[in-house]
Amino acid sequence: MIILNNVTKTFHGKKTDVHAVKNVSLTVHDGDIFGVIGFSGAGKSTLVRCINLLERPDSGEVLVNGKDLMKLGTAELRSERKNISMIFQHFNLFRSRTVAGNIAYPLNYTGMTKKAIDDRVKELIDLVGLGEKEYVYPSQLSGGQKQRVGIARSLASNPSILLCDEATSALDPQTTQSILALLRDLNKKLGLTIVIITHEMNVVKSICSHAVVMDTGVVVERGSVFEIFSNPQQQVTKDFIATTSTMHKIYDLLAENSPVTRLQTGQILARFSYAGKNTVDALISTASIQFNVKINIIFADLDIIQDTPVGSLINILEGEPEALTRC
Ligand SMILES: Nc1ncnc2c1ncn2[C@@H]1O[C@H](COP(=O)(O)OP(=O)(O)OP(=O)(O)O)[C@@H](O)[C@H]1O
Ligand SMILES: [Mg+2]
Repeated sequence: MIILNNVTKTFHGKKTDVHAVKNVSLTVHDGDIFGVIGFSGAGKSTLVRCINLLERPDSGEVLVNGKDLMKLGTAELRSERKNISMIFQHFNLFRSRTVAGNIAYPLNYTGMTKKAIDDRVKELIDLVGLGEKEYVYPSQLSGGQKQRVGIARSLASNPSILLCDEATSALDPQTTQSILALLRDLNKKLGLTIVIITHEMNVVKSICSHAVVMDTGVVVERGSVFEIFSNPQQQVTKDFIATTSTMHKIYDLLAENSPVTRLQTGQILARFSYAGKNTVDALISTASIQFNVKINIIFADLDIIQDTPVGSLINILEGEPEALTRC
């Protein structure tokens, strides 16, 4: 659905140039929820704004539904852009318009009758779970409700692609989860392809199926979210994953020589890592029986990503030295 080929974007300043996006290629498949993660300034917003040509790349190809947007004339580009909507961190609502007025905005001057617009607005309000709020102004809404208005407005013209630039970054964790659940629901119900920019790895973990990690304008890692979490290659990716993990606790306890991690003679400390297939094997009981060792789990950090357990167990193993080595 979206193919970027060698997309490059440089901003020319008075003194220096900023190479915001450097030769990035990526593919987002139809119906996917695709994450773009990276630290501030990595080039995420610039890259995603290249998808609808809000930023025109200096070079490269932007193919959406098979059409190279860079080659389209103004009218054709305007028409293709209706297929690509966007939502933002700070919602960008009109303060002087009601919820209904905000959602109706993209439908004005489209030739639709007032009745048809009203009906469509009602439909969208129901779709995002904002019943009863139709005639309320944005100032009377919570952040989560404002983002629901933003989402409803972005869907008014029936796009097949939704770009989300830090859409949950201004929200508390619980509201973030409710907005992510709504996006997942819309992805399923409408077959909407969603690109999510975020600097929160938890967002990627919760709803994305594929992702890229960006660092200084470059895609440094890519794959399914399971691949990225279970086998990260780059330090920047590992740092992001660490933000969603509690493993640091056990390393702190080890550094403090906490009683929890202290070993008796004949014991060793071992880390078992789980990713995918080996989780279905009864790892602990098999190891214990096969090697005749006692296994005491002292810490666990396990998660389910794309229906597959991923994570680590820290164990104290006790047994004959030779058995421990073999285990
Ligand atoms: N319009 C612009 N003019 C000049 N420089 C820009 C412009 N837009 C972005 N940049 C620069 O390009 C680089 C990438 O910015 P971008 O906004 O894409 O990063 P980001 O990953 O989205 O960061 P954040 O997480 O803070 O939103 C930054 O160094 C930024 O200062
Ligand atoms: Mg940004």
